[in-house]
Amino acid sequence: MSASCEIKGSIAVITLNNPPVNGLGYATRVGIFDGLKKVLSKRAVKAVVITGAGRAFSGGADIKEFNTPKSMAEPTLHTVIAAIEAADKPVIAAVHSVAMGGGLELALACHYRVAAPGAQIALPEVKLGLLPGAGGTQRLPRVVGVETALNMIVSGNPVLSEKLAGTKLFDQMIEGDLMAGAIAFAEKMAAVRPLPKVRDIKVDYPNHEAFFQFARNTVGAMAKNFPAPLKCVDCVAAAASMKFEDGLKVERENFLALMQTTESKALRHFFFGERAASKIPDVPEDTPKRPIKSAAIIGAGTMGGGIAMNFANAGIPVTVLEMKQEALDKGLATVRRNYENTMKKGKLTQQKFDERIGLIKGTLSYDDIKNADIVIEAVFEEMGVKEKVFRKLDEVMKPGAILASNTSTLDLNKIAAFTKRPQDVIGTHFFSPANVMKLLEIVRGVNTAKDVLATTMALSKKIKKTGVVSGVCDGFIGNRMIEQYSRQAGFLLEEGCLPEQVDKAIEKFGFAMGPFRMGDMAGNDIGWAIRKRRYAERPDMKYSKTADLLCELGRYGQKTSAGWYDYKPGDRKPYPSQLVNDMIIKHSKDIGVKRRAVSDREIVERLVYSMVNEAAYILEEGIAQRASDVDMVYLTGYGFPLHRGGPMFYADTVGLLNVVAAMKKYAKGRHGEFWKPAPLLAKLAKKGKTFN
Ligand SMILES: NC(=O)c1ccc[n+]([C@@H]2O[C@H](COP(=O)([O-])OP(=O)(O)OC[C@H]3O[C@@H](n4cnc5c(N)ncnc54)[C@H](O)[C@@H]3O)[C@@H](O)[C@H]2O)c1
Repeated sequence: MSASCEIKGSIAVITLNNPPVNGLGYATRVGIFDGLKKVLSKRAVKAVVITGAGRAFSGGADIKEFNTPKSMAEPTLHTVIAAIEAADKPVIAAVHSVAMGGGLELALACHYRVAAPGAQIALPEVKLGLLPGAGGTQRLPRVVGVETALNMIVSGNPVLSEKLAGTKLFDQMIEGDLMAGAIAFAEKMAAVRPLPKVRDIKVDYPNHEAFFQFARNTVGAMAKNFPAPLKCVDCVAAAASMKFEDGLKVERENFLALMQTTESKALRHFFFGERAASKIPDVPEDTPKRPIKSAAIIGAGTMGGGIAMNFANAGIPVTVLEMKQEALDKGLATVRRNYENTMKKGKLTQQKFDERIGLIKGTLSYDDIKNADIVIEAVFEEMGVKEKVFRKLDEVMKPGAILASNTSTLDLNKIAAFTKRPQDVIGTHFFSPANVMKLLEIVRGVNTAKDVLATTMALSKKIKKTGVVSGVCDGFIGNRMIEQYSRQAGFLLEEGCLPEQVDKAIEKFGFAMGPFRMGDMAGNDIGWAIRKRRYAERPDMKYSKTADLLCELGRYGQKTSAGWYDYKPGDRKPYPSQLVNDMIIKHSKDIGVKRRAVSDREIVERLVYSMVNEAAYILEEGIAQRASDVDMVYLTGYGFPLHRGGPMFYADTVGLLNVVAAMKKYAKGRHGEFWKPAPLLAKLAKKGKTFN
């Protein structure tokens, strides 16, 4: 049982004990329910205090039991709450550290609540596309007021207990010994009758219709793709205008409806997917890790500077090495400017600015980095340059240092072979801007040691990245898939689309940016360089020539103020380009393709399914460990719409049989060979299964 009972004089204390946050799993619920029954039956007991052991009062539902029969087994949280509310002796919640979700709902069912300052109080269900389903939307407005409750429930963000002192949520704030204070409070209230219940408090909110209309407009605009926030507003509105029991019914109906929405399932998939990504089947969690107390970066270019910032932000000193003073100065000046901009926005204090800048040093000498625990190479993407750097690192770095490469396309195993310690070599593929983007692809070479992998995985958490393991292949998980997407985008231009139509269609689907706007932002010359290599290595792979023609015109994107779109000085807004559109139409004619009207649906299906099919190969080859890892890559690194849960999750919701049927249809068009379903996709579709 994960809750214990103890009787101290006339007061019984029930302590939740389910580390790490006293989640309300089955055993904990049984503990509270049975314990309460037992202590209430004792004549000597005059009041009951409920609290949590360790680092929380309660963090709410037990995520280990999510989606298992245990989560629904009696006594459910509703049953426990009903038992507390119906108790014939006062029940007092002694809140500290964390009271969230079901934990807060449990406290709200008690007759009284006392709290320590510094406790995080929240109803975060909206973050999983849900709403508090055990009375939270009805009880919280009754104690903290409609506006505060609405803010808390719609945002899901925590509020410190002392900020809520003075509301009816807490009958007393207790500085110092919480338990002693709670017991004294319980003794004082032991004989007071009737027992107060939050449900009996009247919500007094005149003019509530105008307020809720305003709230709906604001929340609706902010949460375009997610239904939960608006449903939260509906429930709080019910609390303000209906009888308690009727409000509870509204809450229940909305909760059950939200559970079934794709958006909530997508958010839960993301929540669990991020946790799953950190698990590597053959590298147990207790694998010893190497200490990372200092870092070095080779190259102070676009990526090197951003990567260095990650270490400084995490409090790890980092030295950046360049070949020439000029390049070093330029790189470090960019880093400083980035921090200054953050400071100007009020998101960084002068003290933190000084601390972070103080942690980043520059050097031209390998002597200054040889003792670093990890070195990350971010030099030009050329094997010859990488070879020189890794041979040098092998020569100078202390034994046991992790040697990482930020390469986006080169063979990590070859890079490792330039050293006599391939077991210490790993890929850390950051995304641009490296100080902002959450994704970190961690590339496992054939010889990468398990402790190096475990250390790098732990490091990704420390620097607040979502680490996803990838095997070695060209482009790893993310870029290998995006290449297929880009190829399709090119073919769509040849067949009848213009850049704007393609971008708008996929942006309407939810992507942050369509492929052509993205190309203009990242620089079209980068893809050009990759294609040139491809033409030599993979003559079988077909590409539209439109992107090459664009680059031949010098239209590299925003940096040349001209790309797929035109740009005005000082303005990043893309304007459709007549010149480019004429070039595209002429190109179709030149290659003998009759242009046709292409539907937005076709655009979205071709762009997304091309990635899904490639991901099926990636899974089969063992490059990605699991389908949800592919989704994490796309949700955290490529702007795939969160409400659709990532490409694999999306394909699952469409139904793999439907995906394959669409691919067969497109196989009848140009480039039919492109649309051959990967064996894994074909197999799963045939069996009626899903990726995730
Ligand atoms: N730019 C991106 O979006 C991106 C994203 C992910 C990965 N990458 C990869 O990161 C690496 C760096 O890319 P980038 O965009 O920062 O390039 P960049 O051209 O902006 O910077 C490279 C820097 O390395 C320095 N350099 C070159 N050779 C060196 C050497 N021998 N010793 C020390 N410094 C040297 C250069 O002076 C330059 O400042 C490449 O492997 C690239 O594929 C880039």
